[in-house]
Amino acid sequence: MEIQSLRYAVIGAGGISHVHLNDILAKPGVTLVGVADPADPKHWRLPAAHRAAPKFQDAEAMLRETKPDLVSICTPNKFHAPSALLAFKHGAHVACEKPMAMTVAEAEAMEAGRAAAGRLGGINFSYRNVAAFRFARELIAAGELGRILRVNTVYLQSFLGAPATPHTWRNDAALAGFGALGDLGVHMVDGVWFLTGLDYRRTVGLAQTLIPEKADAAGKLRPVTTDTNAAWLTELAGGVIATFETTQVAPGYGNFFRIEISGERGTLAVHSDHPEEIWLRAGATLTKYATWKTDIPLQKLPTDFLGRGAPTTPGAIVHAIRGEKVDYPTFADGLRAQRVLAAILDSMKTGAWQKIG
Ligand SMILES: NC(=O)c1ccc[n+]([C@@H]2O[C@H](COP(=O)([O-])OP(=O)(O)OC[C@H]3O[C@@H](n4cnc5c(N)ncnc54)[C@H](O)[C@@H]3O)[C@@H](O)[C@H]2O)c1
Repeated sequence: MEIQSLRYAVIGAGGISHVHLNDILAKPGVTLVGVADPADPKHWRLPAAHRAAPKFQDAEAMLRETKPDLVSICTPNKFHAPSALLAFKHGAHVACEKPMAMTVAEAEAMEAGRAAAGRLGGINFSYRNVAAFRFARELIAAGELGRILRVNTVYLQSFLGAPATPHTWRNDAALAGFGALGDLGVHMVDGVWFLTGLDYRRTVGLAQTLIPEKADAAGKLRPVTTDTNAAWLTELAGGVIATFETTQVAPGYGNFFRIEISGERGTLAVHSDHPEEIWLRAGATLTKYATWKTDIPLQKLPTDFLGRGAPTTPGAIVHAIRGEKVDYPTFADGLRAQRVLAAILDSMKTGAWQKIG
């Protein structure tokens, strides 16, 4: 069967563009037609293999001239919505970074723009790639845990606390919308939904900015207007209590993302440092001495499960564009997570529980 050739472009030439370029251009029949970023191209951080790409400092000019079929949006969060709407206006499908947008209204406008253009929209919820997360999802969907009883998730990093880490757009609420909450919390919110399939009902949370200012790359002190820490409680469908904590200033934690879920028949946990392993505590291990068994070793995922593989995000959208049946995080998933983030922010302002949806 002949493979549909696709013209591909990227908006935003920073760190995460590497993941998009490498994943999407690894698919056969995809050609890079342009990269757009308003910064001086000599400061762009493109992977060596793609530095010869046609370069533009104006995204609209690139879209007009190169007519891509698929556009990756790898900009700071503030520019996700305008860039996506521009790409849809020019007839492209969109692979967008997370969080989908700054607000629910923006995310809704993106989804409306996508639907009106009759194109596809993906959000790079990258932990959906992780084999352990997909395996846990399969176990839960097969009913192996029984009814879900509780969920706990933490996502801890330290980089922002390091004096050498400069102030960037991530620390500016006008460009990022959120701090740890949007950067890491959005993965937690999507991750819990991806594993359990349980809708979010209501939430209450707290956030802090523990580092009030940081020096930028030029050495100028700038205020940090985003949260460095956040914690929130949610009620999921069926009354399940789910607890969340995230921070970017916990010394000793590089990238520690863990989700633990207990059901009537057992408990499982998945962890970003162990992408092909899972903690499983089954009911059969429960004896009157069960409280001693707190150090159950990790188990390797079954090789037949690992052998099945799965298309990675953000490249999975290429398969969907070509009409293949593929499970990938869509704009609907991005919008669901955005609604939860907005409710958490509202509860932080009001001090009260906020309904979601
Ligand atoms: N999925 C993940 O796990 C993951 C990981 C890292 C970053 N991200 C997301 O990716 C996005 C970018 O993050 P990053 O780490 O690559 O940031 P970055 O600072 O490394 O790069 C951002 C780039 O966007 C450019 N830019 C700024 N305004 C622009 C505009 N209006 N149009 C086009 N380009 C513009 C900047 O010049 C810079 O080159 C963010 O939304 C972030 O949340 C996601």
